[in-house]
Amino acid sequence: MNYRLAYALGIHPWEDLAEHPPFAEKLLELVEREENGSGPPYGPALDIGTGSGVWGVQLAARGWQVTGVDLVEKALRRARERSRAAGMELSLVRGDVTALGDAGLGSGYRLLLDTGTFHGLSDEQREAMGRGVTAVAAEDATLVLDCFAPRRRGPLPRGASRADVERAFPDWEITDAEVADSEPDALARLFRFDERFYRLRRAT
Ligand SMILES: C[S@@+](CC[C@H](N)C(=O)[O-])C[C@H]1O[C@@H](n2cnc3c(N)ncnc32)[C@H](O)[C@@H]1O
Repeated sequence: MNYRLAYALGIHPWEDLAEHPPFAEKLLELVEREENGSGPPYGPALDIGTGSGVWGVQLAARGWQVTGVDLVEKALRRARERSRAAGMELSLVRGDVTALGDAGLGSGYRLLLDTGTFHGLSDEQREAMGRGVTAVAAEDATLVLDCFAPRRRGPLPRGASRADVERAFPDWEITDAEVADSEPDALARLFRFDERFYRLRRAT
């Protein structure tokens, strides 16, 4: 998927999911679990492939100290505008999720979120992302991934199975696999996204 072109053309339908309660509520429920009933600040969170920061800004508003990383400068520009408009401070970094170690992100992230990047990568890129995520995560970190089910969809992300997730994150354990309801989005229906949220905890 050519995200640079998509953002240049102003085509980013994935952002609409923030306004789709079945999807947004389930995702924020998973985030809330990491807040443990304690008050903010909740600690460092990494929004992997942050795009225009739709979720990163929401995490920051909840009391996470958010860093967002993405390859596409135009998306990051929009994320900066979004965070400014919301009065939230995020650290927004241009970097490759398959080489997180080169992005200068530091470490110790308690929460790592990926809505829609991992599932579009090649097997090698996924493994590289897995290594990078483990290197920057705190010992007790939680990772939440949103993945389409595996299926050919032309230029759209090919999706990832539970086994694909396990292979890319050998140092993590899947604790939950929940339906990520993106219906009735017309694209979701046409391309049968069958999305899942995978919640992973770093294995001890
Ligand atoms: C489907 S979009 C999701 C964006 C955002 N998470 C959201 O939910 O609105 C996937 C994002 O991953 C980014 N991306 C894809 N491959 C990447 C890579 N190798 N390194 C960094 N970002 C990448 C794209 O630029 C795009 O912003």
